Amino acid sequence: IELARWATRILIAPASADIIARLAAGIADDLLTTVCLASAAPLLVAPAMNQQMWKHAATQANAATLYARGVEFLGPASGDQACGDIGPGRLLEPIEIIAALVARQGPRLLDGKRVVVSAGPTFEDIDPVRYIGNRSSGRMGFAIAAAAIAQGAMVDLVAGPVSLDTPRGARRVDVRSAQQMHDAVMAAVAGADIFISAAAVADYRPETMASAKIKKDSAEMALTLVRNPDIVNDVAARADRPFVVGFAAETDEVEQRARAKLAAKKLDLIAANRVGAEHAFDRSDNALVLLWADGREDLGHADKNVLAEKLIARIAQQLPATRA
Ligand code: PMT
Repeated sequence: IELARWATRILIAPASADIIARLAAGIADDLLTTVCLASAAPLLVAPAMNQQMWKHAATQANAATLYARGVEFLGPASGDQACGDIGPGRLLEPIEIIAALVARQGPRLLDGKRVVVSAGPTFEDIDPVRYIGNRSSGRMGFAIAAAAIAQGAMVDLVAGPVSLDTPRGARRVDVRSAQQMHDAVMAAVAGADIFISAAAVADYRPETMASAKIKKDSAEMALTLVRNPDIVNDVAARADRPFVVGFAAETDEVEQRARAKLAAKKLDLIAANRVGAEHAFDRSDNALVLLWADGREDLGHADKNVLAEKLIARIAQQLPATRA
């Protein structure tokens, strides 16, 4: 009990499936579980287990129970496992765990803020089996959602078709087309403080979607495309607009074109990235330059998680100026 009172914060790393289950059940039959049950200190767990054990419905239900009680999860990371499997369940690197603890000292940058993030591509259907899409994996947007949550925000994540795990704590809505993303974002931004548009939204969609698979009976075929709504533009035009952050994906004249988009779409801030072969899309790293009306910050080249943390820090710094 003395140990439980003494702690200002409790971290269990590595946290096995067993300890997660025992905490969820409120068991207190050894020193660790007794300390956790008897302490009012914030509890953090860094799971480490076989990927199948992590995915098991029992572990997921136990994790959800703890999460609902306010226990914070650091990870798990995904990748090669000691047993030879590949998947989620790896312990975060110690340096990442320490960084997460340091970030939790004192008030967080987005405590009490509501943030909406769009991520991933949109798919525009041509017929029941074909669509127009792009190479976005959703990783940049998902990293931003996770970074905002780590800074205390409540996050709505509107995701195009991606195969990524939901950042713990995010409220996720899955969509397919630009029109669906538009509708989901518009519903989520009412009353939000910040909208971050990291999705690679298709500018055009086929005028009509064929109800049956199109046959190859002519040498050529033409598709008529019509404009999709511009989501970030429509958010910025709202009377109750939040702080609006766009991205600019450019192959050349990156900063110049990003600055033009900042003005044309009436954004508060834009993150410019060079795209194309070996850049930005569907990879874990990126390079971002942030631009706003009278400022610029080069975030350099780094892992998307690191860039996301820096982007959130910049947004938190700019926010009061626009909300005053
Ligand atoms: O998903 P990843 O693989 O991690 O890749 C990340 C990324 C390259 C997709 C991301 O960093 C990025 O650049 N996202 C924006 C892509 C894009 O559509 O850029 P754009 O320059 O075409 O559009 C400008 C802004 O308008 C963007 O904020 C975009 O979300 C928004 N937009 C565009 C078209 C449209 N119809 N509606 C929009 O809201």
